Amino acid sequence: MIRFNLNGAWVEASDVAPTTTLLRWLRDTRGLSGTKEGCAEGDCGACTVAVVEQGAKGPEYRAVNSCLLLLPMVHGKHVVTVDGLKREQLHPAQQALAEALGSQCGYCTPGVVMTLFEATYRGDLDAPWKLDDQLCGNLCRCTGYRPIREAAQQVAGTCPADEFSKALPASAPADTSLQLERAGQRFTTPATFDALWDELDAHPDARFVVGGTDLSLEITKRFQAPPKLVSLEALAPLRALTEVDGVLRLGATATISELEAFTAARSPAIHRMVRYFGARQIKHRGTIGGNLCTASPIGDLAPVFLSLGATAVLRSRATERRVPLHEFFVAYRKTALGPKEVLAAIEVPRPSPTARSVAYKVSKRRELDISTVSAGLFVDTDASNLVTVARFAFGGVAATPKRATAAERAVVGKPWTRETALAASKLLGEDLTPLSDHRGSANYRALVARNLLVGFFDETLTVRQPALQSGHAATVQPGGLS
Ligand SMILES: Cc1cc2nc3c(=O)[nH]c(=O)nc-3n(C[C@H](O)[C@H](O)[C@H](O)COP(=O)(O)OP(=O)(O)OC[C@H]3O[C@@H](n4cnc5c(N)ncnc54)[C@H](O)[C@@H]3O)c2cc1C
Ligand code: FES
Ligand code: FES
Repeated sequence: MIRFNLNGAWVEASDVAPTTTLLRWLRDTRGLSGTKEGCAEGDCGACTVAVVEQGAKGPEYRAVNSCLLLLPMVHGKHVVTVDGLKREQLHPAQQALAEALGSQCGYCTPGVVMTLFEATYRGDLDAPWKLDDQLCGNLCRCTGYRPIREAAQQVAGTCPADEFSKALPASAPADTSLQLERAGQRFTTPATFDALWDELDAHPDARFVVGGTDLSLEITKRFQAPPKLVSLEALAPLRALTEVDGVLRLGATATISELEAFTAARSPAIHRMVRYFGARQIKHRGTIGGNLCTASPIGDLAPVFLSLGATAVLRSRATERRVPLHEFFVAYRKTALGPKEVLAAIEVPRPSPTARSVAYKVSKRRELDISTVSAGLFVDTDASNLVTVARFAFGGVAATPKRATAAERAVVGKPWTRETALAASKLLGEDLTPLSDHRGSANYRALVARNLLVGFFDETLTVRQPALQSGHAATVQPGGLS
């Protein structure tokens, strides 16, 4: 039985197929039609609702896409939907949007309201780019973004002392584990590792799921129903983010927004890549492990982690083993994970103070887009400016995220100069085998990869650690790449 708090009251959902999305259930079963469906794939934000966690200072609201959230994933949680804002008075987010004339068709509006709702209770929206980041998961094609942005500016961080700022109502299920079998489908959420291994022994064909921002698309876009899913969400040790002896240990089920907060002061390269990852709603659900385990050639975390010399920690009932990340991606969408084995964490050594490290994402749109080419680039030099370590990793230019080892070898022992970077960029073709698709031709991708390497040199010439939110490679003169 799925039990969760919906708009202040505990509700139960029985007789529901585990692959039912929260959006479908709200609309079809509860008649809560305020929450809209636009794209059913996390791109438009019309379905945005807030999932709530009890933080140290009160409830913390997280805007998420209800079209990608399977109903069992909200078991034991608190959810607020736009229908839950109906009170005597408009919520400040609604009031601000109405006053700024930020709504015309009204279809995207409920999602915008819920994103502004989250912004209302966020205390850290203290820079203009953070407002863009907050809003980029909500499309509006008619009113335009200026009035919506103005409304967001008006309410962001105001934290009114209303019912939404009070402690969460009690009586949550103490045990957040779940075992559900309906309509020929099975969904389990083990809360202990023993329960996880037992489940895998009994159902070796079960698939893992965490945020569902990849896997749910199989349900909403390909109309498939994975028969057996095991959620790793309730296993707290898998979500921890720590730093011990100069090594960042990043729990595989930590969300991208948790990673963003954790790396803000610890790893500018990771932080910058994460800034351009999906949108707020996706970052609240998508996880580190989910991103790496798809082994997608265009996953955004792999290149930056590869460039930082990361190690994957793989765990099964009997063992915990460490695999260098460049050996984790074994073929197109295939990883080194064995049967009944989970990705537990990624370990990233802190670079030495002399190292330079930058991540780049090249996409058609700056916000909420998939990479055409991405890169994580790293060099360390000695006192004479000779390169001691080089790791050049790319996404979107091979069947897996990949290091360009020929180019790396070519720079080690050489002075770190533009000529060295330029010469290395000409060797990228030895490792990278880009394909043409609707995002870019093979030639374009190859040229972008070369440009990024030379642009990396230019950027690191002036700044040892890049500005966090710039995200643009320095311009490379075309003449320099002939
Ligand atoms: C609108 C939208 C925008 C997106 N934008 C980006 C983007 O900018 N950059 C980007 O890289 N990606 C993007 N994604 C893809 C996706 O959000 C990320 O890959 C995300 O990190 C996946 O995490 P998840 O927890 O949701 O994965 P899930 O969907 O839960 O799982 C994905 C796969 O990984 C496996 N898995 C998950 N965790 C583990 C584990 N610990 N051990 C073993 N196997 C595991 C699951 O079995 C499943 O096969 C986007 C997706 C959407 C829908
Ligand atoms: S319906 Fe478009 S993001 Fe969910
Ligand atoms: S108000 Fe609906 S598209 Fe803008």
